[in-house]
Amino acid sequence: MNLIHFKSLSDERGSLLAIEGNKDVPFDIKRVYYIYGTKPNVRRGLHAHINLRQVAICIAGSCTILLDDGSTKQEVALNSPMTGLVIEELVWREIYDFSEDCILMVLANNHYDEKDYIRQYDNFLELANEK
Ligand code: TYD
Repeated sequence: MNLIHFKSLSDERGSLLAIEGNKDVPFDIKRVYYIYGTKPNVRRGLHAHINLRQVAICIAGSCTILLDDGSTKQEVALNSPMTGLVIEELVWREIYDFSEDCILMVLANNHYDEKDYIRQYDNFLELANEK
């Protein structure tokens, strides 16, 4: 599992955390999206990407992410704005246990492209095992 620890700049006013592409995350950032206001017992994700690289940061509250590379499954609890989880291509992800106040921010190295999604777990396993 690849976690990044971001440096937070704190002073008597509070904290500020800056993330720069190719410096703090290992790619140029082309897209940012966030998931928030998630309803109880929701499970999101349930897909992999053919090419996309992402870093997920729980900037408020908490959630759990399951990462599955086709042979190993890992569960990661995210609950800090200072921690980024790198999610590489061809990794199946499921996101759950969202706290009511969870804001999950995701940085991505490419624009949104539905064709890059693998939404069937069987297809994912085939592609992951071809690697
Ligand atoms: P979806 O991929 O289903 O979310 P998740 O896999 O996290 O549960 O995305 C929900 C909707 O938002 C879907 O219609 C696609 C759209 N979407 C965009 O338009 N741009 C984006 O960057 C993302 C991530 C999703």
